[in-house]
Amino acid sequence: MVTGEVEIIAESIKILNSSLTPPFYITDDVEADEGLRLKYRYLDLRRPIMQKNLAKRHKVVKYIRDFLDANDFLEIETPILIKSTPEGARDFLVPSRMQKGSFYALPQSPQQLKQLLMVAGIERYFQIARCFRDEDLRADRQPEFTQLDLEMSFVEQEDILKLTEDLYTGMIESVSPEKKLVKPFIRMDHAEAIEKYGSDKPDWRYGLEMTDITDLAKETDFRVFQNIIDSGGIIKGFVVPSQSNYSGSDMRRLEETAKEYGAGGMSHIRLQTNESGDLTEDTVLLSPGIKMPLSWSIRVSERMGANPGDLILLLAGKPKDANNWLSLMRSYMADKHHLVDPDLLAFGFVTDFPLFEWDEQTKRWDSSHHPFTSPTPGTEHLLDSDDLGSIKSQAYDLVCNGSELASGSIRIHQRELQEKIFNVLGYSTQQVQDLFGHILEAFEYGAPPHGGIAPGIDRLVTILTNSESIRDVIAFPKTQSGSDLLFGAPDVVEPNQLRDLSLRTVE
Ligand code: AMO
Repeated sequence: MVTGEVEIIAESIKILNSSLTPPFYITDDVEADEGLRLKYRYLDLRRPIMQKNLAKRHKVVKYIRDFLDANDFLEIETPILIKSTPEGARDFLVPSRMQKGSFYALPQSPQQLKQLLMVAGIERYFQIARCFRDEDLRADRQPEFTQLDLEMSFVEQEDILKLTEDLYTGMIESVSPEKKLVKPFIRMDHAEAIEKYGSDKPDWRYGLEMTDITDLAKETDFRVFQNIIDSGGIIKGFVVPSQSNYSGSDMRRLEETAKEYGAGGMSHIRLQTNESGDLTEDTVLLSPGIKMPLSWSIRVSERMGANPGDLILLLAGKPKDANNWLSLMRSYMADKHHLVDPDLLAFGFVTDFPLFEWDEQTKRWDSSHHPFTSPTPGTEHLLDSDDLGSIKSQAYDLVCNGSELASGSIRIHQRELQEKIFNVLGYSTQQVQDLFGHILEAFEYGAPPHGGIAPGIDRLVTILTNSESIRDVIAFPKTQSGSDLLFGAPDVVEPNQLRDLSLRTVE
C-alpha cells in the first residue's frame, strides 16, 4: 500500500496480537524527547530512518568482513574479562566471585591481545570488537562502542595506511555511493595540522586556514598582545572571505560566541576599500575600540592572504588555548556562512604525532596515543634527554569531516625499548612487572615487528547516515549519563549477590 501498487482486499482477518497506543508517533520527524524514545527503544527502532541506519551499519560491517577476508585476515575473538591495565580511560571493573577481592576489567580495546596474537604468528588479525571505557560521554562517545580492530606483522606505516584507504574507499563507494569522496586521502603531519587548523582532526571540507602573526603583533604597542606574548602566548587567526560587512553588533555577537567557547577575547580587522578601490584607514579596525596603523593591517592582510572585503579574525592566547578556540570558531564560521558541503567526505591521515604530551595537572609525561607506540626510528636516543616533547612517533589518525575515525601506530616489539617507555611514563620497575610483565615477556620470544589501526564503527556510520548523534546508529545505546533507560541499568542488585562477591556498598 505504501507503494500504491498493490491493494489487498481481505476476505478474513486473523489478529495475531494487539497493540497499545504508542507513547509517540512512529515517524521520522518524531517530536518525542530522546529519553522517552530510549525507554521505548523497540518502538523508536520501528521508525524508517532507524531501520535504515541499522541496515547501513550491517552493510558497513559486512563489507569490512568480506574485504579483510579477501585480504587474508583472520577474524579472532578476544576475551571480554581481562586484567585492568592503564590504557588512557577508566576501566569498568567486574568483581570475581571465585577469587574474592580481585577484579577483572572490561577491555578498553583489545590492544595488548592483538599484539600477543602477532607474537603467536597470526600475521593478519581483525575483529569487530566491543570496547568499554568509563569516561565522560559526549555526542560522539559511548561507554561501550565498537571498533574494527586490526593488526599486521612485518609491515610499515605505509602498508597500514594504504590498506585502510583501500578499505574505506571501496566501502563508501559500495555502501554510500551518494557521498562525494576526496581521493586520494589527504596526508598531513601533526605539526602542520595544528599550524593550519589548530586541531589534530581538521575538517578539510572548507578552507579558513590559520596563520600565526605573533611576530607582526610583537611590533605593535597593543598591550593585550604584548602581555599575552610575554607570557608565552601567540596571536593567530584566519580570514573569512567577503564578510567585512559585519556590523558592530554582529562583531559583538561573534565575540560573545568566542567567549562561550572559552576565549578571553577576540580581535578583528575588517578590510574595506573606498570608491577608488584603495584600502582606507578609517575602515580598518582592531577591536575592542583600538585602531592600528593602516600599514600594519595591510601587512597582516598580506601575510594572511586577505583581500579587501574580507574579515580577519584574530585570537590571542597560550598556543593550546588559541588553537582550540580558533578551531571552534573556524567550524562555527563555516556553518554560519554555509561553507560545508554535507555530502562531501574529506578523509585524511594525520601522522607523526608527538610520542608524549605533558599533562599540566599531574605534571607528568603521558603517551599521546598509547605506551605501545613506537617512536620514529632514529629518535630513540632522545628518550634519555630533557627533550621528550620533541620525540615524534609512528602514530596516525584517520580523520573525516573533523571527526577522529581511527587511530593506530607501529608498535614497539622489543622489551628493552618498551621498558624504557614505561620508565619515562613514571612506572616503577615493580609496577611495570605487575601490570605489563606478560607482554614484556612475550616480546622476548621473537616478537615480529607489527602495527595496526582501530577504526570506530559507530562514528563512521554516524557520518555515513548524516546522523546527529552516535546514539542514532546503535540499537540500544546509553544516555549521556551512562544509563540504559529501557532496562533501567545501572541498578542496585540483591544483597545476596553482593554477599557472594564479598562486596558492600558505602555511601
Ligand atoms: P583509540 O582509543 O584512539 O585507539 O580508539 C580508536 C577509535 O575508536 C573510536 N572510539 C570511540 N567511539 C565511540 N565512543 C568512544 N568512547 C570511543 N573511543 C574511541 C574512535 C577512535 O578513533 N587500541 C587503539 C588503536 C590502535 O592503536 O590500534 C585504540 O583503541 O573512532
